[in-house]
Amino acid sequence: MKAAVVPGPGVRWELRDVPDPEPGPGQVLVKVHACGVCHNDVWLTNGVYNLPGIDPVIVGHEAAGEVVAVGAGVTARQVGDRVGTTWIQAGCGRCDFCRKNPGLLTGRTGMNCTKPVMTGMTAQGAHAELIAVTAQSTVLLPDALSYEHAAPVLCAGYTSWSALRAAEPQPLDRVAVVGIGGLGHLAVQFAKACGFETVAVTRSPDKTAAARELGADLVVSDGAGLVAAGGADVILVTGLSQETAADALAGLRPGGRMVLANIDVSGGLKIGPERLLWANGQRILGAGHDGLHLLTEALNLVASGRVTPRTELFPMQRVAEALDRAAKGDVRFRAVVQY
Ligand SMILES: NC(=O)c1ccc[n+]([C@@H]2O[C@H](COP(=O)([O-])OP(=O)(O)OC[C@H]3O[C@@H](n4cnc5c(N)ncnc54)[C@H](OP(=O)(O)O)[C@@H]3O)[C@@H](O)[C@H]2O)c1
Ligand SMILES: [Zn+2]
Ligand SMILES: [Zn+2]
Repeated sequence: MKAAVVPGPGVRWELRDVPDPEPGPGQVLVKVHACGVCHNDVWLTNGVYNLPGIDPVIVGHEAAGEVVAVGAGVTARQVGDRVGTTWIQAGCGRCDFCRKNPGLLTGRTGMNCTKPVMTGMTAQGAHAELIAVTAQSTVLLPDALSYEHAAPVLCAGYTSWSALRAAEPQPLDRVAVVGIGGLGHLAVQFAKACGFETVAVTRSPDKTAAARELGADLVVSDGAGLVAAGGADVILVTGLSQETAADALAGLRPGGRMVLANIDVSGGLKIGPERLLWANGQRILGAGHDGLHLLTEALNLVASGRVTPRTELFPMQRVAEALDRAAKGDVRFRAVVQY
């Protein structure tokens, strides 16, 4: 098969012929039709994270495709199923975390299990024509959903929907989204689709018009802008930096929840003494891939047409360009590679 191989840290992806994977027990073999480029693929490639210990190195965890073979013992998936694959395929089932959380298949499993199976990290990634994954980590795609629109939902949408759910927004709450990229452009749409007044917080003036088209009622550039606009009850942080999260915290209303769905590889969240979380009953939460039932909700919302990923499509021959553009923050709003 053809696959986008990462030759080494900081080296451009190369489309190469590599051996076809085979589905082991409990696995399905998926013919990938579309796979999104997540910012974590950028960090895996440019050496910010250690390169996965897999040979050859293939990253990616947003693949939508068709089941072309099933391994022994698989009953819930069949050849011909249209499926989405996910980042966390399995926990080890034996470590302390897995004993306390039997059967859990979330980002938490990936970060706490001593031997998790993670697509594009401990197991082959999804930027390839074929991928073998555990059947239990796949979701059936709604018929109305194209592979190209499903792909960004499998990580970006899953994460931003998990973040909105974690905030437990109440009727009449106002939701702000910090950082309008792959995750953020879906978070704005999810919040709006649920009927919440929505504020986009973007450092990029050229995104103002697009943020409004996505459904933002207001667009501001930072925490001061959010304060001036009256603040928000829920702040979903999806940008790359916790500095922007700390800045946005100024605009969190009393009783508000800030959800960190993002990862900042260069620093943590610093909360100044002026932010009286205790006096204001405010909470800061983390969210990620919080359960396949949430991914299913997100996919259904997209299939219903109320949320539409904005993608830039790349044929697999241009996969290296897709990664380069994502690294520069040039993509509006998710690069999706077709295999
Ligand atoms: N929790 C999870 O499970 C999970 C899953 C996937 C990804 N993530 C994390 O979520 C974040 C977003 O991922 P993504 O794929 O959506 O990335 P992305 O498409 O590259 O978007 C990131 C956005 O962050 C903002 N940004 C860029 N450079 C910045 C800087 N120097 N300081 C502050 N903001 C900056 C930009 O928004 P504006 O131009 O609007 O400011 C950009 O569009 C990453 O940290 C990623 O690691 C977490
Ligand atoms: Zn991702
Ligand atoms: Zn475990």
